[in-house]
Amino acid sequence: MRLSLANDGLPTWSGEVLAVGLFKDQPATELEGRWPGLSNTLNREQFSGKPGQQLVVNLLEGSGPQRLVVLGLGDAAAFNLDGVRRAAAAAAKAAGVCNGLLGLQLNWEGLEPTAAAAAAAEAVRLSLYTDQRFRKSPEPTQHPAGLELIGLPPQAASGFDRVNADCAGVELARQLVAAPPNVVTPAALAQTAAEIAESYGLELTVLERADCEARGMGAFLAVSQGSDLDPKLIHLVYRAEGEVKRRLALVGKGLTFDSGGYNLKVGGAQIDMMKFDMGGSASVFGAMRAIAERKPAGVEVHMIVASCENMINGSAVHPGDIVSAADGTTIEINNTDAEGRLTLADALLYACEQKPDAVVDVATLTGAIVVALGSEMAGLWSNDDALAESLDRAAEAGGEGLWRMPLRRSYKDGLKSKLADFKNTGPRPGGSITAALFLEHFVSQGTAWAHVDIAGTVWSDKGQGINPAGATGYGVRTLVNWVCNPA
Ligand code: BES
Ligand code: MN
Ligand code: ZN
Repeated sequence: MRLSLANDGLPTWSGEVLAVGLFKDQPATELEGRWPGLSNTLNREQFSGKPGQQLVVNLLEGSGPQRLVVLGLGDAAAFNLDGVRRAAAAAAKAAGVCNGLLGLQLNWEGLEPTAAAAAAAEAVRLSLYTDQRFRKSPEPTQHPAGLELIGLPPQAASGFDRVNADCAGVELARQLVAAPPNVVTPAALAQTAAEIAESYGLELTVLERADCEARGMGAFLAVSQGSDLDPKLIHLVYRAEGEVKRRLALVGKGLTFDSGGYNLKVGGAQIDMMKFDMGGSASVFGAMRAIAERKPAGVEVHMIVASCENMINGSAVHPGDIVSAADGTTIEINNTDAEGRLTLADALLYACEQKPDAVVDVATLTGAIVVALGSEMAGLWSNDDALAESLDRAAEAGGEGLWRMPLRRSYKDGLKSKLADFKNTGPRPGGSITAALFLEHFVSQGTAWAHVDIAGTVWSDKGQGINPAGATGYGVRTLVNWVCNPA
């Protein structure tokens, strides 16, 4: 989809579908000027500009737009980039089978023009995403050939620069998450990494089972041992040309299927959805793809994914097994379904070996975070306030909900084992917090670390805002903003 600023204003704009936003109780003066009588139509339909309100008028005359979409933007004082995203997504959906130009005019005043242009363009593209890969006969999708934003100043156009790279990253993440577990396997993730490395000239290392054994990654390997598929530890590196001032690591949970193991997921535990348990790795893959395309200066980014399946066979972990992670920490696996933290323990140890200034892990780690924060906010834990704040800003700028949670030290007592250094599971209350505390143990002293639990945000059953129903690609925009726009 081509992205541009319209040369024409609303009185003369002549693409296929025109979408115009109005604040609550804002008179439709400009629209009335072009289409006399339109104000009456709006009144008759009781259009008042409430947020989410929408009126579609099919204009059947020969010249000018064939369809007009009027969107309610709500209170002027509360209008922000999220309002832009919601309105742009609504416009895109209301455009229907438009395959020409979609024009969008919102009340841009008061918004930073480049950020507003980027938010609108992203929202249009991401809300029109469809996935026909698994159909015998894919339905042809008709999207607008171009998006023109009306009424923004010329400097806003630079906001478009990053949109295609970022959206391609989000779409890659969505595709990886939505693909079934017989397609996205640990080997398929390694293959995806190889494709990114090849396309953008990144450095790739894949550790096979024997390599992981040699490194003593007993926690990761324990999770994989009940599966017929080989585990893969995937390490992809982006290095800016010239001087590197920040070394960052992005670690993603990469369970391509989580049956729970012998603590099998039963009764409402959504076993049939556990293909999405590689959502954290999808976020870091999508982010790496976008970063590789955008080529930010001064930064080195290590992506690390310890990928496997959590399955059951005669070699699978027994509940009660004691294993040791690569640093020698021993773990009593009192619940085989708390497998993500075992894989992440070895992945975080490996990440810290790269001597990063900061490590961020992203994981569909706990059902408890779904209960705590629902589907619009991920949980954030960090041992470093500056890192937490910069991630918070990155999430805010990307329109992704993120909420900081506490590393309540005393809860770590819940992980005490009679025999080993730790159990992998504490009591049910505060389950997302003990999971975060478990991970923190494997981060080198003095390394800034953050953990993002995306179990609630990885998937949207009904779809909302810019997310069609299904995989959301959550996390990509936050990570990319964090890497590319240090604040
Ligand atoms: N992958 C799940 C977490 C999950 C649950 C994600 C529901 C999305 C929706 C994780 O491996 C898991 O099973 N966690 C357990 C931990 C428990 C055994 C301490 C959970 O949250 O129930
Ligand atoms: Mn599990
Ligand atoms: Zn899991």
